[in-house]
Amino acid sequence: MAQRRYFIKTYGCQMNERDSEIMAGQLEELGYVPAARDQEADVIVVNTCAVRGSAEEHALGYIGQLRQLKAERPSMTLAVAGCMAQEPGTIAWLKKHAPQVDLVFGTHNLHQLPQLLEQAEASEEMVIDVWQSAGEVVEHLPSRRKDGVKAFVNIIYGCDKFCTYCIVPFTRGKERSREMGAIVAEVEALAREGYQDVTVLGQNVNSYGHDLNPPRDLADLLSELEKIDGVRWLRYTTSHPRDFSQKLIDTIAASSKITRHVHLPVQAGSNAILKRMNRKYTKESYLDLIERVKEKIPDASLTTDIIVGFPGETEADFEETLDLIRRVRYDTAFTFIYSPREKTPAARWEGRDPVPNPVKKDRLNRLMALQYQISWEQNQQYLGRELLVLVEGVSKKDHQVWACRTHNNKVVLIDRDPAIDLTDRFVPVRITGAKTFYLTGEAVGNPLPDSAPRRVELPMA
Ligand code: SAH
Ligand code: SF4
Ligand code: F3S
Repeated sequence: MAQRRYFIKTYGCQMNERDSEIMAGQLEELGYVPAARDQEADVIVVNTCAVRGSAEEHALGYIGQLRQLKAERPSMTLAVAGCMAQEPGTIAWLKKHAPQVDLVFGTHNLHQLPQLLEQAEASEEMVIDVWQSAGEVVEHLPSRRKDGVKAFVNIIYGCDKFCTYCIVPFTRGKERSREMGAIVAEVEALAREGYQDVTVLGQNVNSYGHDLNPPRDLADLLSELEKIDGVRWLRYTTSHPRDFSQKLIDTIAASSKITRHVHLPVQAGSNAILKRMNRKYTKESYLDLIERVKEKIPDASLTTDIIVGFPGETEADFEETLDLIRRVRYDTAFTFIYSPREKTPAARWEGRDPVPNPVKKDRLNRLMALQYQISWEQNQQYLGRELLVLVEGVSKKDHQVWACRTHNNKVVLIDRDPAIDLTDRFVPVRITGAKTFYLTGEAVGNPLPDSAPRRVELPMA
């Protein structure tokens, strides 16, 4: 019998990417091999994201497209997983509009994929198994990492912050930290395999360890990981301004491995809006935090997330946001139009006091125009500097160049000689050009010798 093949389509954040790697690992243990395209797969998993309406529409659109494929290949198993599966509204929608779906499971029971698949194969009906809350942290799941030199490692699951616009606490459950020993052992094993760029993951990594006995914190964890030979760069995502401690700032400042990229999602500049968002900081305390970061880590690149059009946001509130980004001077800001989410308090306020759509769009445009100008100016500081970059691969837009990343997360494009494969290599470069979204550079030395050229292309889109 021909080998059975799988295909995983992933939407959303890096935690979803990591979950997809674990699903891939489980499927490979069952004997499945990667399919190059969804048309060739015997199992397709759509790993969904619910953070904004647009993310949901993309996933539902793809699930809709698969109806045809399922009609042509009825023996194929189609599974829907991830954050949308945790929403009752999605389940109702799938039952009504997507009979092609064989299996729905959520974020808390993805470790059961092998059994669920078996059930779905044996059943005529859509099998739905979504847990409302998380069980114990499950260790030692198989995994098939997507990349050769970069690795993502979960350290804390869930989120307890309940920002009033956000669905994540409902889709990912309460905060649960992994034991520090388990994380250190995983990163040691990764280092032995040649992974050198390690990112620790959580919806809120600054909360790491408060629920452990004895309690730990992110600074303790990063200090332990720093000691592991073979790890060259250490990153963490995502951090919340509320728990970004002075101890963490000092730990980053003293480290040669922890990235100098500091991502501190601010969401809004108006205190009234921040209060209604339940962010638990003010514009002033946030700016004070940024000053402390700049003082101790002068070479930090700063990035943020901002939402415009939160219910009741006035022009004066929005101008507070513009003022804040002028003062901080972020390298990059990820900007979003507020999207109402099932079960969240802000969705009810959106019903009563919405910002009109054209105003939302206008604010987004003004915000982006200002931020692009600042991003361009920030990037000029890099001209002439020599930096080490990690070559991530051939640029998707221009096959003549390599897309690379610096330790502080800047994109650098360098000329590519097709005869030499630099994928996953660390290369010293000099920065020769600075644009709004990227830098350009030229190699000024040979790639470092100790990279691990082991990348395998995975069928994960
Ligand atoms: N845990 C991270 C954020 C995860 S979601 C944190 O607290 O920083 C990533 C970003 O999506 C958020 O920072 C926010 O800017 C945006 N976002 C979340 N919910 C949203 C919503 N309902 N509408 C628009 N943007 C949203
Ligand atoms: Fe959502 Fe807030 Fe938790 Fe981030 S901290 S995941 S924005 S609830
Ligand atoms: Fe989306 Fe879930 Fe991540 S809602 S952003 S995939 S935690």
